[in-house]
Amino acid sequence: MAFENLRFDVRDGIAVVTVNRPDKLNALNRKTLEELNRAVDKVEADDGIRVLVVTGAGEKSFVAGADIREINTLGASSGKEFALFGQEIFRRIECLGKPAIAAVNGYALGGGCELAMACHLRVASENAKFGQPEINLGIIPGYGGTQRLTRLVGRAKALELILTGDQIKADHALQLGLVNAVFEAKGFMDHVMEFARRLSKQAPAAVRYALEAVNLGTDMPLEEGSHLEATLFALCAATEDMKEGTGAFLEKRKAEFKGR
Ligand code: COA
Repeated sequence: MAFENLRFDVRDGIAVVTVNRPDKLNALNRKTLEELNRAVDKVEADDGIRVLVVTGAGEKSFVAGADIREINTLGASSGKEFALFGQEIFRRIECLGKPAIAAVNGYALGGGCELAMACHLRVASENAKFGQPEINLGIIPGYGGTQRLTRLVGRAKALELILTGDQIKADHALQLGLVNAVFEAKGFMDHVMEFARRLSKQAPAAVRYALEAVNLGTDMPLEEGSHLEATLFALCAATEDMKEGTGAFLEKRKAEFKGR
């Protein structure tokens, strides 16, 4: 089934999902979230896809939040369902087993900032703006923002952003550790794709287990996390790609990983 509110393009093993409602600054309504869920299905099912890039259509916005028109109609039980629905999809991105890069090309507000934070890496264009402005609407972040922002930037800064609703610029987000890198707006997607291509060439099992070790391990006590790491290391050691990577080093050549 085709997408209406997303573009889905695959090139060189990299899936680029573009939220495509530029007239609404790519706000996430229910339909767009459902399509995002289907896009995750496609990325998950296709072994040829090694990396997911998420971005927004147009020059101005990555995603300007959940759709405020829909939020306006919510009550207590529909409000909970609304939050859980978005949380579940974002958690699927986090647990995809393939790197997800948010290419933040403008406003990443509310659900947009939360979508970016559910991705493993965030690269921002110099004109990007981040924020959790829900407080100005009489609500709190509902798609994981109170949890992921706190884990990324610490409690004090997370609370400052959540309680003021202030927007911050890309260089400030970089300083806080909210983004990994800031690129010039000109040629932004070329920079992102170059970065994605590097990741797409790594051994897929090592990438998957690195993501799993960090994702699950950070919420564990050190000893348990280290035990998980050792088990995942052992799984890597059983792959042909491990023989290829280490063999290539010893033979002084470039490794060609096969995904086995
Ligand atoms: N939900 C629904 N519609 C949204 C939206 C959102 N989160 N963000 C923007 N839009 C819509 C606007 O309603 C407007 O639609 P219209 O042309 O039909 O009136 C269109 O997108 C353009 O937005 P506009 O506000 O005119 O652009 P701007 O450049 O003046 O301001 C923002 C840009 C991002 C500062 C402003 O749109 C904004 O504050 N958006 C809401 C951000 C937010 O609170 N997100 C968290 C939601 S939980």
